[in-house]
Amino acid sequence: MELEHLKWRYAVKRYDTNSQLTDEQKTHIKESIRLTPSSLGLQPFKVFEITSKNVKESLKEACFKQPQIVEADMVLVFASYTEMTNEHIEGHIQNTATIRNQELSQLEAFKNGITGFVSKLSQEELKFWTSKQTYIALGMAIAECARIGIDSTPMEGFNGEKVNEILNLNEQNLECSIILTVGKRNEEEDFLATLPKVRKSMEALFEEI
Ligand SMILES: Cc1cc2nc3c(=O)[nH]c(=O)nc-3n(C[C@H](O)[C@H](O)[C@H](O)COP(=O)(O)O)c2cc1C
Repeated sequence: MELEHLKWRYAVKRYDTNSQLTDEQKTHIKESIRLTPSSLGLQPFKVFEITSKNVKESLKEACFKQPQIVEADMVLVFASYTEMTNEHIEGHIQNTATIRNQELSQLEAFKNGITGFVSKLSQEELKFWTSKQTYIALGMAIAECARIGIDSTPMEGFNGEKVNEILNLNEQNLECSIILTVGKRNEEEDFLATLPKVRKSMEALFEEI
């Protein structure tokens, strides 16, 4: 990853509606999310790829009419779990045993550790913890998009209750955490395209102790 890639990217406001990502690019972005590290490896979230035009139109309303939702070629809604059930934990243990060719008994202590950790959290703490995991995946996807020359926008500007309702997230013990749109910038329409980046100086941001 060259720093030039990170300097090139910006949070795109207007996308080129005539430009489409290749299947390979879409898979690459999804793989970068799948490969993202998460606390205890639990990946306590699900990502919805919105392809329905009608759903995109509804989501745009829930996102305070932000144009990226209907203009970007790819729309990903990160939804984090509001509960961590035994089934979820068992699933992770079973997956680990299968992939690493281990006996379930070898993973007993790991499983008890996860259950112990999760059971001590209040629901608010758990929701905060699961949603934090989605931001790591978001960061990885944004960086990976930049690295392969694709534009993206992290989006927190939405009415969560409305997004949850549109995608029936609460019924699945999920809630919308963050949205990522991906596509190609429309340089002519996007006033942000030519503006320099605003960042704190190195001195203001870092301190050596
Ligand atoms: C968590 C998060 C939420 C954001 N939400 C929105 C949003 O809803 N709409 C938008 O246009 N930009 C959104 N942004 C983009 C930021 O405004 C942008 O990243 C910031 O101003 C820095 O500029 P740059 O990313 O273009 O370098 C969001 C960024 C982050 C990290």
